[in-house]
Amino acid sequence: MTNQQRPVVITIDGPSGSGKGTLSQMLARHLGYNLLDSGALYRLVALASMKRGFDLAEERLIAPVALALNVQFRVAEDATRIILDDEDVTDAIRQEVVSMGASQVAAHPAVRAGLLERQRAFVAAPGLIADGRDMGTEVFPAAPVKIFLTASAEARAERRFKQLQNKGESVNKATLIADIRERDERDSKRAVAPLKPAVDATIIDSTDMSIEQVFARMLALVKQAV
Ligand code: C5P
Repeated sequence: MTNQQRPVVITIDGPSGSGKGTLSQMLARHLGYNLLDSGALYRLVALASMKRGFDLAEERLIAPVALALNVQFRVAEDATRIILDDEDVTDAIRQEVVSMGASQVAAHPAVRAGLLERQRAFVAAPGLIADGRDMGTEVFPAAPVKIFLTASAEARAERRFKQLQNKGESVNKATLIADIRERDERDSKRAVAPLKPAVDATIIDSTDMSIEQVFARMLALVKQAV
């Protein structure tokens, strides 16, 4: 394969609520690239384990769930539907309880190892936008464009609050800020693949930026490199 044919991988990492999800989708659509929402995989592992009644702290129980995950991403016109064991769990995996569960299962090295090849299998021409926490550091360390998107915990909690409100989920804002801090703490302090920018990543702080501004910045970075 020549360099021109080789799929381009663009990694977008950052904490929850930084706008990664929305911006990754926008970029993928704009460039006609494939999209890997790696957080969805950790959410699926958490949900599948919870359905089986497993204690999420038990790595030896959860790792096999990650390896055997029976999931399909069905691309529909409006959004991609996520099917776990024949059940549509697109909305179920976004619940707050699953967010917390995902960050618990994500701390197990065997779970991360179990999902590694599944994530790399998303690479396909013409390119991939890989959204997560360790895309640039662990999963695609050779990616030519690496972005680390962040924002203050308050700004991120505010965005998440609006998102959940729009979906009709009732949440308390103070609880949300506390949850985001707890997740940040666990994601940044875990022993394997902690949340941190790759040394060659460009850091964008979106606290005082609009989505459109961040999108323009990202697109400029991509255009420079690809
Ligand atoms: O991005 P999202 O909020 O959907 O991710 C849910 C959780 O999955 C994160 O809080 C994090 O603990 C975990 N995760 C991870 N590595 C990734 C993506 C997500 O550890 N690449």
